[in-house]
Amino acid sequence: MSLIHLIDLQSLGDERGSLVSIEANNHIPFEVKRVYYISQTKQGVSRGFHAHKNLQQLAVCVAGKCRLLLDDGISRESVWLDSSNKGLFIGNNVWREMHDFSADCVLLVLASEHYDESDYIRDYSLFCAKVRE
Ligand code: TYD
Repeated sequence: MSLIHLIDLQSLGDERGSLVSIEANNHIPFEVKRVYYISQTKQGVSRGFHAHKNLQQLAVCVAGKCRLLLDDGISRESVWLDSSNKGLFIGNNVWREMHDFSADCVLLVLASEHYDESDYIRDYSLFCAKVRE
């Protein structure tokens, strides 16, 4: 099964421009407790490099593009987020890295839980050991 779970977000755009709507428990399978966005990323910078024990997220590039790499401890796959209609669902116990941010990239993330540092696994070898338990 692919690690890349893309969600086609509803486009309500018309001749005036683009409008995309995301409803909790409808277009995405969780309640949203937190929203954050990443922008003005310096050229050549990569982010992420962690997994979560209990967190569901949806990542959408609302402007520009970046490449998301997902890894379940067995295989790795990457996908370009390059459209505001394209949401990437990321579940528990998935290592994620964000690469190749365009200068204009705004990466919006909807999350199922509040920020909790104790939910992070930031060490790749610990992550691999945990998913093989
Ligand atoms: P970090 O985990 O390094 O971001 P990324 O996954 O993009 O590499 O987060 C940077 C800092 O921001 C770190 O000190 C934790 C803090 N932070 C919050 O306080 N709340 C949040 O929702 C997020 C995502 C990060």
